[in-house]
Amino acid sequence: MKITLLPGDGIGPEIVTATVKVMDAAAKKFGFALEYDHQLLGGCAIDAYNDPYPEVTQKSANAADAVLLGAVGGPKWDNVDPSIRPEKGLLRIRKDLGLYCNLRPMKVSRFTAHLSPLKPERVENTDLLIVRELTGGIYFGTHNEAAMVDGVETASDVDLYTRPEVERIARKAFEAAKVRRGKVTSVDKANVLAESRMWRKIVTEMQAKEYPEIELNHLYVDNCAMQLVLNPGQFDVVLTNNIFGDILSDEASVLGGSIGLLPSASLGDGTGLYEPIHGSAPDIAGQGIANPTGTILSAAMLFRYSLDQQAAADAVEAAVEKVYEDGYRTPDLFGEGMTKVNTQEMGDLVAKALLEA
Ligand code: NAD
Ligand code: IPM
Ligand code: MN
Repeated sequence: MKITLLPGDGIGPEIVTATVKVMDAAAKKFGFALEYDHQLLGGCAIDAYNDPYPEVTQKSANAADAVLLGAVGGPKWDNVDPSIRPEKGLLRIRKDLGLYCNLRPMKVSRFTAHLSPLKPERVENTDLLIVRELTGGIYFGTHNEAAMVDGVETASDVDLYTRPEVERIARKAFEAAKVRRGKVTSVDKANVLAESRMWRKIVTEMQAKEYPEIELNHLYVDNCAMQLVLNPGQFDVVLTNNIFGDILSDEASVLGGSIGLLPSASLGDGTGLYEPIHGSAPDIAGQGIANPTGTILSAAMLFRYSLDQQAAADAVEAAVEKVYEDGYRTPDLFGEGMTKVNTQEMGDLVAKALLEA
């Protein structure tokens, strides 16, 4: 099976290297072959091709069974033309592969709950899935960069959704809820935004017509941000648009102690893309201390959703649990009585736990 690897920038190459060790261990244990094609996306691709999503990367990704991504971006490219920023490369690959559905599962592990910024008893029941629309909304509406309009510097971004875009992502959320705890919370800003009012209307209609067995509630995004801290255990599936999903998933991620833990799957009708939810972490890049867990768990999602290797997916997740149970931690989650390890050691430990299970 062909995997396009896009390590990207900052800590990206470090966390992807650690993850490939785990993927290789899984392939060995479960008897399948993985063929990797390393390509450039983001800042590194700007340096090489003056294009954050060059043609060779496009070809590789389109031909692959799945794509694994580290992260893109960094201060080096913060002042390049907006049309070729590293982040633009990520948005383009999402659009190119039609990845409208971004799944961001967040389950607080009993081995890290005590490192949450919240009291452990507040977070220990947290098991939610953010279903984030990924190829529409304000990220993809018309952007007008700052320019003088009637003598005043002005900039704008259009927040646009179509009914079919809302329906297909809502369907993913309802279907996910069916095999979870049967509850969808749709998050919007319908008290202010026209886009949100249409979103809420469509989601409400669909629940009544197609998913009467699913419990649906609606929250304004500001309230949702507060509820995530107050009582995260109330959430099962959280359905939301592109920008709210981005913000809420960083907030949710840290309930379990570190943003470095959260994986994601970006799915459409063809090749899927898998990446941790965090960024390139320029502040710790090159030090070998980044937590690769979110990327390793993204590889588990890749096995599950793109390669149909369910046993391998389960085994990767179990191996991560075992390494945490045994007390190994990268510095972001280090605490009393733990053994501190670096990025590559964490990858080696998970690979070893997988092979020994
Ligand atoms: P970030 O997620 O890179 O970092 C936020 C904080 O979390 C930092 O203190 C960082 O050290 C820490 N952190 C992140 N991942 C970690 C890990 N695996 N282990 C330990 N600590 C970790 O967010 P930022 O600093 O706002 O953005 C940095 C760059 O990354 C920007 O250029 C941004 O556009 C880009 N970015 C890319 C992606 C992506 O490629 N999917 C996602 C988010 C941000
Ligand atoms: C993420 C990132 C991206 C996003 C950026 C880098 C374009 O923050 O994947 O969460 O906003 O979608
Ligand atoms: Mn983000």
